[in-house]
Amino acid sequence: TIRAVVKGVGHYLPERVVENSYFESIVDTTDEWIQARSGIERRRFAAEGETTSQMAAAAAREALANAGLEADDIDTIVLATSTPDLTFPSVATMVQNELGMTRGYGFDVQAVCAGFVFALTNANALILSGQAKRVLVIGAETFSRILDMTDRSTCVLFGDGAGALILEAQEGSGTNDDRGILSADLNSDGRLREMLYVDGGVSTTQNSGHLRMQGNLLFRQAVGKLTETAETALEKAGLTDDDVDWIVPHQANIRIIQGTAKKMGVPMDRVIVTLQDHGNTSAASIPLALYEGRKSGKIKDGQLVVTEAIGGGLAWGAVVLRW
Ligand code: ACO
Repeated sequence: TIRAVVKGVGHYLPERVVENSYFESIVDTTDEWIQARSGIERRRFAAEGETTSQMAAAAAREALANAGLEADDIDTIVLATSTPDLTFPSVATMVQNELGMTRGYGFDVQAVCAGFVFALTNANALILSGQAKRVLVIGAETFSRILDMTDRSTCVLFGDGAGALILEAQEGSGTNDDRGILSADLNSDGRLREMLYVDGGVSTTQNSGHLRMQGNLLFRQAVGKLTETAETALEKAGLTDDDVDWIVPHQANIRIIQGTAKKMGVPMDRVIVTLQDHGNTSAASIPLALYEGRKSGKIKDGQLVVTEAIGGGLAWGAVVLRW
């Protein structure tokens, strides 16, 4: 059995740290409200002129170094973003050029905050079908550029950044003791688009628009859907909540993360949490959290990791992998 095994991980965060107190000066909010309602304390914002592709390439370089690989060892770049540099070409091809990669191919995946889970699942499918041996999977976002800085209910929640993972085809035994991606579960429901969307785009307004969110409606959907998709993915691999070493969730709200962990019966000391420092970085949040989990020594070789995410669409899903 072929498995898509993690070979390396990398990250990039812009230099500028924006504390909650900054928002007290631009909208009617407080540090206490933001921390109590979301768990966020600070986030990074990209510098003027700094783009999604530049951040993605920086994360990719670190992942390549971590894996001991060169750019031309990569067959495919699958990049999740909802905030591309340009309408086209894809950010993935910009990263390909930026890395000096002269072979293979790259493309973008758009599933908003669930983007990295969708990208990982697609990368896994490319490896299992023999289309690629090594895939660079990236989540990269500059959500600061689509925030309405007069809307206190959204502008305080998001941040910028990028994370990258390298997957490599390796022979496994076919059991769930194998390293690599063991299962995935993807979902979307386009009837729920009003809960989270951007009010602009190419075929409508010809500008990029601003993020609009009915946070409390989305909140009510999140815990149930995330628990269900995580448990469905585990079940597909013949595993249960009891087998989970680490939950690496999308980082939107600490109360959603805690609620999901509780429903799964996984204690919070087995959940990787970065949102206090990063805010919600959409498709970048899971690879950034995976990076943190490895860098801190928490996620060890052979441990079982469940990633789960929900976002605009709505789109949601989970990936189960053994590191
Ligand atoms: N500061 C102070 N007060 C605020 C702020 C703020 N920044 N924002 C909203 N409020 C007020 C509201 O106006 C409201 O006041 P009202 O009662 O007088 O009308 C009150 O606080 C409560 O607002 P709610 O929206 O009900 O607060 P809630 O507890 O739901 O928290 C939050 C809001 C943090 C947005 C939460 O709902 C949430 O995290 N939702 C889910 C977000 C999410 O998961 N998104 C998906 C991923 S993101 C993606 O896909 C891109």
